[in-house]
Amino acid sequence: MKSTDIQQNSHLGTLTTGNGNPVPNNQTSQTAGYYGPVLIQDFHLIDKLAHFDRERIPERVVHAKGAGAHGYFEVTKDISHLTCAKFLNQIGKRTPVFARFSTVGGESGSADTARDPRGFAVKFYTEEGNWDMVGNNTPVFFVRDPIKFPDFIHTQKRDPRTHMKNPDMQWDFWSHVPEALHQVMILFSNRGTPDGYRHMHGYSSHTLKLVKENGEFVYVKWHFRTNQGIKNLSAKRAAELEGTDPDYATRDLFEAIEKGDHPSWTVYVQVFSEEEAMKLKYNPFDVTKVVSQKDFPLQEVGRMVLDRNPENYFAEVEQAAFSPSHMVPGVAPSPDRMLQGRLFSYPDTHRHRLGANYLQLPINRPTASVRNHQRDGPMCFSENGGRLPNYEPNSFGGPQQSPQSREIAAQFAVEGTVGRHSYGVTDEDFDQPRALYRLLDAKEQQDLVDNIAGNIALAKPVFQRNILQHIKRIDEEFGARVETILKQKTPDLTSEYLTE
Ligand code: HEM
Repeated sequence: MKSTDIQQNSHLGTLTTGNGNPVPNNQTSQTAGYYGPVLIQDFHLIDKLAHFDRERIPERVVHAKGAGAHGYFEVTKDISHLTCAKFLNQIGKRTPVFARFSTVGGESGSADTARDPRGFAVKFYTEEGNWDMVGNNTPVFFVRDPIKFPDFIHTQKRDPRTHMKNPDMQWDFWSHVPEALHQVMILFSNRGTPDGYRHMHGYSSHTLKLVKENGEFVYVKWHFRTNQGIKNLSAKRAAELEGTDPDYATRDLFEAIEKGDHPSWTVYVQVFSEEEAMKLKYNPFDVTKVVSQKDFPLQEVGRMVLDRNPENYFAEVEQAAFSPSHMVPGVAPSPDRMLQGRLFSYPDTHRHRLGANYLQLPINRPTASVRNHQRDGPMCFSENGGRLPNYEPNSFGGPQQSPQSREIAAQFAVEGTVGRHSYGVTDEDFDQPRALYRLLDAKEQQDLVDNIAGNIALAKPVFQRNILQHIKRIDEEFGARVETILKQKTPDLTSEYLTE
């Protein structure tokens, strides 16, 4: 494992207590005599211990291990005919960004090279407030209704009884939710172990909207394509690195930027109209599906460059709070059910993890001015509205609504009966996984088969059998190859039992 240099600093003035008093001695506590007990009047000692006791904040419930960097987004192609978003309205315009990449299931001390999707979150500090593009390195996701998300995540975490990882949980769950298999195949392909964060693409995964001043909108999916080229780790190398360099991806990103090798991504959108969306074969709001790039080719928008490392990990990376609901005029959500659930969940978790004033933290504070009637709360460190009235409408002035400003959500018609309208599982859920399997070259197919069978083999026979049925429904040959390996690894299983 390599070390990273700690910066050498010249003397920066006198060491002080939290309330600004000079500290005469930072080596020895105050005691009553040489052999006597420690005194409670030693504020520096008490404050130092008490602050230390509170150093940890709750880690993110998912995506706890991550690395981040600052940079900029630059418009390279004009899409002002699609959106009134000001940060997109001029070729050459640059917007500062902060990006955070992460693994999903592990704790904040877990290894970077785990087989897992990678988070790909970008905060755009636009002139009209912050837009957060909170995506992954995969174009699809495991489940398509937010009501299933906590269950899915529980299967990726530790067994509630043993506190150990338990492969039964994930294979059991996935065999009940076969729409997950599209993402499961990506997870067990070589893209499930990217070689660091610089060599992977990023996707909004969900369909979003771009909206014009007059309210007209198009649907878009965002794609960030790495200019470093895709590079993945073999399962063997990823496992080695878990032991020898668990911070592999964090180190790779930090060191590249430190030596001026600034990673960049070309940013594209896939665009389709409301009418086209309704004619698609697959539900455009089902995040387990992709929208064909043949039908809707990528259109370039700009590029993202990361050129500055954080000065302080906790202040900038740990306290960064992204949310798909942090939008700006001209960018709006689609009715994707998962996305709709996320619009609620992220600010909710931030209020728990960082507090009600999380948007005042320097890394989250918009560069655009913030003026409203929210007041107080724990750790309020803005001017808190000063002497202005804390209600509106009022007779004394202060910020007022501006009817001419553009509503983020374009108006659109909805109709139907309130109910729990299930998507159900249909043959269509197996089409895109089948196409993906057939798209892989021989080596990639073999790696996928080896990786997925190797992991399924860790689960109990009943779960092996259940998931195998679905893999065969994707593609008979794919299923047969997985079955062959399962039978080798689990010799006491009869072929009838596996395929019954
Ligand atoms: C992080 C919830 C689906 C990408 C998180 C966090 C929560 C959460 C609670 C922790 C946030 C924090 O503490 O800062 C959910 C829910 C989902 C969902 C309820 C579905 C209903 C997704 C999907 C994607 C995604 C589909 C990608 C397309 C991310 C990323 C982060 C994250 C990138 C880490 C952000 C960061 O770097 O701070 N999610 N998530 N999530 N989620 Fe999700």
